[in-house]
Amino acid sequence: MNATVYVIQDNVQYQLAVDPAGDMLTALQRSSRLTIPAPCGGAGTCGKCVVRVVEGDVPEANTMDKRLLSSARIAAGARLACRLTPTDGMKIEIPNGHGAPLSKATLSVGSLHHDPHWVKRTVTLPAPSIDDQTPDLERVLEVSGCTMHRLTVDTLRSLSTVVRRDAYQVTVLCSQDRYGNFLHAVEPGDTTGTLRGVAVDIGTTTVAVYLIDLLSGRAIDVHSELNRQAELGADVITRISYSTKHGVDPLRKRIVEQINRMISTVTGRNGIAVSDLYLAAVAGNTTMLHFFLGLDAAAIGVSPFIPAVTRAMTYRAAELGISANLAAVVTTLPCISAYVGADVVAAIVASRMRESSDVSLLVDVGTNGEIVLGNSDWLITCSTAAGPAFEGAQVRFGVGGVDGAVNSFAFTGETGWTSDRITYTTINSAEASGICGAGLLDVVATLLKTGVIDETGRLLPDNELPDSVPAEIRERCHLFEGSPAFLVVPGEQTRDREPIYLTEKDVREIQLAKAAIAAGVDTLADEAGIQVTDIARVYLAGGFGSFMSAGSALTVGLIPLPNGSRTEALGNAAGIGTAMSLTSRTLFERCNSVATAAHHVELSGSSGFREAYVNRMTFSTL
Ligand code: FES
Repeated sequence: MNATVYVIQDNVQYQLAVDPAGDMLTALQRSSRLTIPAPCGGAGTCGKCVVRVVEGDVPEANTMDKRLLSSARIAAGARLACRLTPTDGMKIEIPNGHGAPLSKATLSVGSLHHDPHWVKRTVTLPAPSIDDQTPDLERVLEVSGCTMHRLTVDTLRSLSTVVRRDAYQVTVLCSQDRYGNFLHAVEPGDTTGTLRGVAVDIGTTTVAVYLIDLLSGRAIDVHSELNRQAELGADVITRISYSTKHGVDPLRKRIVEQINRMISTVTGRNGIAVSDLYLAAVAGNTTMLHFFLGLDAAAIGVSPFIPAVTRAMTYRAAELGISANLAAVVTTLPCISAYVGADVVAAIVASRMRESSDVSLLVDVGTNGEIVLGNSDWLITCSTAAGPAFEGAQVRFGVGGVDGAVNSFAFTGETGWTSDRITYTTINSAEASGICGAGLLDVVATLLKTGVIDETGRLLPDNELPDSVPAEIRERCHLFEGSPAFLVVPGEQTRDREPIYLTEKDVREIQLAKAAIAAGVDTLADEAGIQVTDIARVYLAGGFGSFMSAGSALTVGLIPLPNGSRTEALGNAAGIGTAMSLTSRTLFERCNSVATAAHHVELSGSSGFREAYVNRMTFSTL
């Protein structure tokens, strides 16, 4: 018999019927209304699935709880959901749901290149007569100038009624490509005032949906949320292994449901009907697109890393379960390889790096670090397993780009203009809940500059700190769980009233991630026969790239920024590039040509990469 459990999130109480033989995490994940992070997929190693038992029997803390949670939290009722057995009447509280880490302010797609895929035209058909018995479809094709059609059977079934509803005046949706002129839909009367679409970027961590007016080529709105697949695994590999055990369908359903809810949110708040959406372009890394299409991604996870498909694919929205007009089609953008996906292709198009003969570097630092080097003549790419450190996983107080994440940290030094020489900011100015990638980078850069972290990455204990370490920094150098750590935010300023530390192990994670990225850049430069100093421009893509301080990236050596190179944060370049491809046939074709032209370098077999990785392990810059 099921147990009844009460769950509070975002100040709302939910009642769940759960299997008492299972664990609380699985029960919470089954509910589409609740969100809980579980980067390790329930393995009991990440410590992020914390819930607080507020009523009912509070079970004894088990070994995992004791290893990953402080005694103060345990005393307050905190337990790991993946190790918690539900009991009847238990009431638990889970941290607030995943907010939207991107705001409307990130809608910086500007005026999009407008060269539409589909156009709408109003036409009046000649009325049939006994002397003109041309069938309705032929009549529409002739007047619309289309030679072929891609009508759904539903459109065909209603055609006879539609053409007669408004005295033979209809609106036709047509497209033109190298294969001819196609008729896609026929609507009664004049509907030429509405033609919209959505560009979707499925990131491993964040999903963004852009609402686009296809008539003007203008972005109307954007909505983003954390990818709900994260509850089944933080990174691509964990999710692939989940799919090999449970099938791909739970992952496909989760992302399709999430996209549909996001479409409903973004259309609803702009007073637009979902049936006004005719086109969707979807980007994401290769694995995310496999999950979106419901493809088996197992072969991506093991050498020789073979995707089922990398080319652009187009299907009816209804076939994929995406909410839109019945005639709508969805196109997934092309990928380059198993680990350089359509999100990178879209970012390349958004950066316009293909339009200059100067060599540019594009880096998207996420769970994987994707790196692109090239210009108008050539393009070379690789992907490094940078680890999920910059996404907040495997870092003691790490969080993703959520409200309250510390996203910048600075020590102003002697020349500071404020009496608070240590300053930090959090996403949406919420009380600090953890540190995200950009904050981690700033803290590590500060500690390198002040001498608290040495070149080998050692966080020095109090008694080894050089005299030059400023007093404000020195007094934050504590021991945490027996090892040297740096106090980033004191407990009285945090949401949970627990201090937020950077631990020695966290520094090691950052060190490994930055070495992988920097060595990837070295390897590509070597393959291309250029010096890193030949790079004229650096583009930082991804949410992390937009928050990240270029100065901290240089101090830490994350990206070996050459002197004099221009650095530009592109924001959500993948989303912007996807929106560009949705409004422009030319830019969609450019996505295809980027995917075809790019030469992919597989780093797992590269001895040059291994050597560069070792060389880049220390915290010394160019
Ligand atoms: S520790 Fe519970 S999901 Fe990671």
